[in-house]
Amino acid sequence: MRHEGHFDPVAMLKRVPKFFWAGAAVIVCFGMVPPAVIFYMRTAPKRQPRIHLIQNMDNQPKFKAQQTNELFRDNRAMRPPVAGTVSRDAMTGDTHLWLGTVDGAFASTYPASITVDRALMDRGRERYDIYCLPCHGVTGDGQGPVHKRAMQLMENGTNGTAWVQPRSIHEDAVVEQSPGRIFHTISNGLNNMAGYASQIPVEDRWAIVAWVEALQVSRNAPPEEVPGNEHFPEVRRQLDEEAAAPSPAEGGHDHASHDPAAGGGH
Ligand code: HEC
Repeated sequence: MRHEGHFDPVAMLKRVPKFFWAGAAVIVCFGMVPPAVIFYMRTAPKRQPRIHLIQNMDNQPKFKAQQTNELFRDNRAMRPPVAGTVSRDAMTGDTHLWLGTVDGAFASTYPASITVDRALMDRGRERYDIYCLPCHGVTGDGQGPVHKRAMQLMENGTNGTAWVQPRSIHEDAVVEQSPGRIFHTISNGLNNMAGYASQIPVEDRWAIVAWVEALQVSRNAPPEEVPGNEHFPEVRRQLDEEAAAPSPAEGGHDHASHDPAAGGGH
């Protein structure tokens, strides 16, 4: 049987032996020693660096500016730049060739070291077809295979909802641009187009500029500047006739089978 009685905490505490309180006081006092020591060690100024148990790669052996290093004969840890080093800020050389600028403005001519001739055009065409055609298309109208594929993927919902069409290089705003500006676009890119300075050597970039300009001229040249223009009326008539006549594809199989050579374009 248990006594009915109320719970009295004071009476309970009085029953705890005295030596318990004395022990607890001692433990609390000693317990304050380590934090006090740590506090002292971490804050008081000393000659030695403070104790740093967990390194976490905080310290690395290295030479800082103005320190000495006996490895070198002049005992300096700082070394002069390798002979021939050019800092970007100090670049005073051929900005025309490297940046496409003359006196801080886009160049309206080709650099002196680039000769615009048939060989440069051929090179430019080849490089254009490798690096630019995928987006800008073979004629530069912005209808390259990558563009067409991207539109397809967007239409059937496979991939994404946004695509920036490569610009047509035949837009007035691009045709008006100087060679230096086109060179700059190829080198550094523009908005959604990446720069090609790291992939295409500088001479090849100028060759591509020449080909871009050639493509632009091909669309806008006045007839009197085109060699063989005296044949234009004749060619025009031929084209009109071909357009009026049923094409081999529509015109039935007879024609194509009699004369296989007529199948392709001429
Ligand atoms: C991956 C696709 C892609 C490739 C490859 C690419 N371009 Fe472009 N290009 C673009 C896009 C997109 C724009 C439109 C950028 C914009 O205005 O957001 C553009 C714009 C341009 C313009 C117009 C710049 C202007 O001032 O509006 C020129 C010129 C041009 N590209 C030339 C080139 C040449 C030359 C190459 C090859 C070295 C090339 N591009 C390769 C996507 C491409």
